Amino acid sequence: MNEIGRTRERLKRLEEEARAELCAAQGETHLQAVRAKYIGRKGLLTNFLREIRNLPAEERPALGQLANQLKTALEEAAEQALTEERERQKAKQLLREGVDISLPGRKPSLGKAHLITQVTQEIVAIFERLGFEVSEGPEVELDYYNFEALNFPQDHPARDMQDTFYFSPNVVLRTHTSPVQVRTMEKRKPPLRVIAPGRVYRHDSDPTHSPMFHQVEGFVVDHGVTFADLKGTLTFFVHQLFGPGVKMRFRPSFFPFTEPSAEVDIQCVICQGQGCPVCKKSGWLEILGSGMIDPEVFRFVGYDAEEFTGFAFGLGVERIAMLQVRLNDIRLFYENNLQFLKQF
Ligand code: FA5
Repeated sequence: MNEIGRTRERLKRLEEEARAELCAAQGETHLQAVRAKYIGRKGLLTNFLREIRNLPAEERPALGQLANQLKTALEEAAEQALTEERERQKAKQLLREGVDISLPGRKPSLGKAHLITQVTQEIVAIFERLGFEVSEGPEVELDYYNFEALNFPQDHPARDMQDTFYFSPNVVLRTHTSPVQVRTMEKRKPPLRVIAPGRVYRHDSDPTHSPMFHQVEGFVVDHGVTFADLKGTLTFFVHQLFGPGVKMRFRPSFFPFTEPSAEVDIQCVICQGQGCPVCKKSGWLEILGSGMIDPEVFRFVGYDAEEFTGFAFGLGVERIAMLQVRLNDIRLFYENNLQFLKQF
């Protein structure tokens, strides 16, 4: 065999070895190393190309062409092997990080309205059906609206009925929602049919009294409003809330801002009127205070008591919620025990 034949043989072996090594290489780093070994800057084939100039001139073109073709072929083979390797790695990674879309998702737990909010909404909805509109007032209130204009004069013993938190002699945390009556009447003329839910505060804490609790105030002012309207409205309300079968009664009472005044009792929902610890053996439970708006209150807001009459009522939301869910300790509402609150 002559020189050119031997060189051809050498190139052929080189190609076979390179292809075999590319085939056997494990991983990208190994593949890059094989590529460098043959066609890198100091690779075997690159060196061969460099040495071509030492061959006899007549052999150079053919061998040069052959070596260049081989270099291109090996470059393509290395590139293909690298691409395949990268695809294999990507597939492996996808498999590792894969999401199993057949698994059921985790439901985010949804919050819901507190029982007191639910009962307030229920009460407000009943009055809205009767044409009442909702209004609100501030929780930090002037003594004037909380007491004075509701006919509680300074030093009047009736102020002791409500254990007040004072900010200053003239500023209090409102003890009831009745100041909304005065604020609304000051701004507007009759006819008025308003419901005012909100938080109120009293220095009071035991199983049936909380220092912060909720009331819903209601009042109607117009020509010719009578005590019969008060009775009709509150009877409708009680029957909507506790069912048409529940017995109720109006019992004479006293509030400085209503005259006459009445408290409304319903038959005890725990013992059906038989007498139990919850109703203190009386068979009745008080749920709200009410009365005809005192002409003295009208004088404070500039209404003519000869022209207009009105009735008002105020109820404790916690008291009603406790009866609805048969609870004997008001403090459970405000301990933020989710297990308890989730029941409703
Ligand atoms: C009043 O607050 C009057 N403003 C109601 C009123 C309005 C009468 C309009 C006439 C006309 P009283 O102090 O009774 O009234 O409170 C009303 C209701 O609030 C009570 O029936 C009771 O259910 C509730 N209540 C009173 N104090 C507390 C307390 N510390 N914790 C929870 N509920 C309370």
